[in-house]
Amino acid sequence: MLRRLHHEQPESFEFTPANKAWAEAQITKYPEGRQASAVIPLLWRAQEQEGWLTRPAIEYVADMLGMAYIRALEVATFYFMFQLEPVGSVAHIQVCGTTTCMICGAENLMEICKEKIAPKPHMLSADGKFSWEEVECLGACSNAPMAQIGKDYYEDLTAERFAEILDELAAGQVPVPGPQNGRYAAEPKSGLVALTEFESGRTQYNASVARAVEIGDGIKRIDGTEVPLRAPWQGKAEGAAQVAEIAEKEPALLAAAREGGADDLKLLKGVGPKLEGTLNDLGIYHYDQIAAWTEAEIAWVDTRLAFKGRVERDGWIEQAKKLAAGEETEFSKRAKDDKIYD
Ligand code: FES
Repeated sequence: MLRRLHHEQPESFEFTPANKAWAEAQITKYPEGRQASAVIPLLWRAQEQEGWLTRPAIEYVADMLGMAYIRALEVATFYFMFQLEPVGSVAHIQVCGTTTCMICGAENLMEICKEKIAPKPHMLSADGKFSWEEVECLGACSNAPMAQIGKDYYEDLTAERFAEILDELAAGQVPVPGPQNGRYAAEPKSGLVALTEFESGRTQYNASVARAVEIGDGIKRIDGTEVPLRAPWQGKAEGAAQVAEIAEKEPALLAAAREGGADDLKLLKGVGPKLEGTLNDLGIYHYDQIAAWTEAEIAWVDTRLAFKGRVERDGWIEQAKKLAAGEETEFSKRAKDDKIYD
């Protein structure tokens, strides 16, 4: 299968502060000079944050690890676990199509995907909520046919139950993973014939399902709202402090640009034509609007942009203050000279 970067890419990528702390902790696991060994976990975390691996994310990870971009690209394009195209905002469905699942009805499940999601794998559904693909054996053959949805396995599926699960997910619910036909785990369908004494001591769910239900993050993006996992030697307190939430506040928004037209927001470093469109859609047209944002207002804007942390990272406020005062910034001068966006 040809694995290429998607033709449409975002302008940039940045780990959330919590994910950055997590990534830095991963790097410390490796001796000096061997930081590149952390490439897979860091690419994976970037994918967990965004749902798929973008080119800016691959390059960002390569920069963090001091690797040539091509080395990180080789890893990202080699492993099928890395999604190189946008995936559904709710879930990406991975239907096992290997022998056991195929014999037990995987084709019927894929028909449901074609009907309910998109006619071809790796295409987004019309509402953007779902995508799907066929994958190789996921190691749950005794509960075939099965599909992985987010982090969890849904097993012993029928086409009907699978369709219901997709509907439940679309309605904002997360169905309990594990066997879907009343089986407890992977015991014979006709019931236990040995070790039957353990049947009476069963908990509500088998251990995998119980853990999945307890964690409850099956389809959740790792977007910085969780307490970061830290390397044990780095302590928990520091990590927890980094995710202290800032209360959001809506900044002053406009229904349209003022008389005289909107400012060219692309003269702010980090803002391209797409992002300018997003800001305009939010009601942000002028430098002085941006220059006046408070910390809480930055937090509000941040959650409405594709990549958190970019307002502060690129120093929008300082830039906007200068531009609002009629001054130039290093970037605005360069952008005008190079006519970057003309
Ligand atoms: S064949 Fe589907 S999980 Fe193994």
